Amino acid sequence: MVANNTDKIWGGRFTAPTHKFVEQFTASVSYDQRLAHYDIMGSIAHVRMLADVDILSTADAALIISGLEQIAQDIDAGQFQWLTALEDVHMNIEAALVERVGNVGKKLHTGRSRNDQIATDIRLYLRDEIDLICENINKVLNELLILAADHAATIMPGFTHLQAAQPVTFGHHLLAWAEMLLRDHGRLHDCRKRLNLLPLGSAALAGTSYPIDRAQVAKALGFDGITQNSLDAVSDRDFAIEFSAAASLIMMHLSRFSEEMVMWMSPACGFIDLGDAWCTGSSIMPQKKNPDIPELIRGKTGRVYGDLLALLTVMKAQPLAYNRDNQEDKECLFDAIDTVKLCLFAYAGLLPTMTVNKERMYTAAAAGFATATDLADYLVVNGLTFRDAHAVVGKTVQFAIQHNKDLASLTLPELQKFSAVIKQDVFSVLELAGSVSARDHVGGTAPKQVKAAIKRLKKQIK
Ligand code: ARG
Repeated sequence: MVANNTDKIWGGRFTAPTHKFVEQFTASVSYDQRLAHYDIMGSIAHVRMLADVDILSTADAALIISGLEQIAQDIDAGQFQWLTALEDVHMNIEAALVERVGNVGKKLHTGRSRNDQIATDIRLYLRDEIDLICENINKVLNELLILAADHAATIMPGFTHLQAAQPVTFGHHLLAWAEMLLRDHGRLHDCRKRLNLLPLGSAALAGTSYPIDRAQVAKALGFDGITQNSLDAVSDRDFAIEFSAAASLIMMHLSRFSEEMVMWMSPACGFIDLGDAWCTGSSIMPQKKNPDIPELIRGKTGRVYGDLLALLTVMKAQPLAYNRDNQEDKECLFDAIDTVKLCLFAYAGLLPTMTVNKERMYTAAAAGFATATDLADYLVVNGLTFRDAHAVVGKTVQFAIQHNKDLASLTLPELQKFSAVIKQDVFSVLELAGSVSARDHVGGTAPKQVKAAIKRLKKQIK
């Protein structure tokens, strides 16, 4: 046999050794080694199938599988040496296999290509990561439900345009976040369903001439089925993009939540405090206790959006089938996964440390004429049209501002100056508690509805 002119697995047709720069530039092992266990899992399922269809002998398959299992143990023990010269996770493992079990290891790659191999690895890996992220979402959801139960009747100003608009319960506000996270969970679930198909067997791009059993491998690896077009299967990264889009939405939600926490914790607002163990201080201003965790989460949102955009761009001009551009999918995907996991973990830890200053919340709600709409509705019930009622209440608010009072502290004669239909019972709607309790329908802010929503959400969290 003619010797290779390079020491590469693929070096047969090359006349010069690879330039060091090219070796570095094309290598992915520094980051794709995180796929090692999925790579080995895929290889073992592939080899078992090759033996079952008589492409490999049972003895060869057993040797290869035990070699791969040893490699997996070495990787776990931190005793595996990853070499840039061997380019990627696949060739590092294959070379180690041949070193361990000899020439029989060279049979592992029968009937497959790194192109279908990497597509399989990423799907297996992402599937597990999605499950972990869903668990993390559930943890945050449970913390939100605990807080919401404590604050089903706690009154705060609800805002539009960041101005006190109508009183709401803090529990209702927290459950708005729960609804968002529940949708996020659903999106990840959808993404997982679509990605859970086996690409292996597509080989480089056209399929393989060996009589392989793809369905067997799919079953062994827990896939719901097999991909239906080899050209598509080796080049498709939709699942990574879908995931990153779902991750971007999670980050957008967490970022909005973070923004509110920062605002609520500001001494100017003073609605909440976060535990000392979950805040940091200033190196110059001794009095400071800063909400760095929510701020960092708000800040990290940008990188996940960036990951999504990078992935979309990696794919946008690629002709079928596999191109090396695809290797650029990994760092973005890994970063989106790591970031979203970290931020959800942070939220699950941070939320239980939140304490609420009910007085500050109540005072802010009372100060903002937040029951003006309730007064208008009261006038409508007593015979005015809504537009006339709106005008009456506008004048009443103007009067209250001039006299430095809130609506509930105006006297009955003062109120009656603006409309004769106003009677003593008006005070029950001007009171904040009456206002929130009146919004007693599914989706409304009444404490009763908050409690019902918590029950419903508990059932929906899977
Ligand atoms: N490291 C490559 C990737 O991440 C694996 C597939 C390489 N295939 C190839 N024909 N060069 O996509």
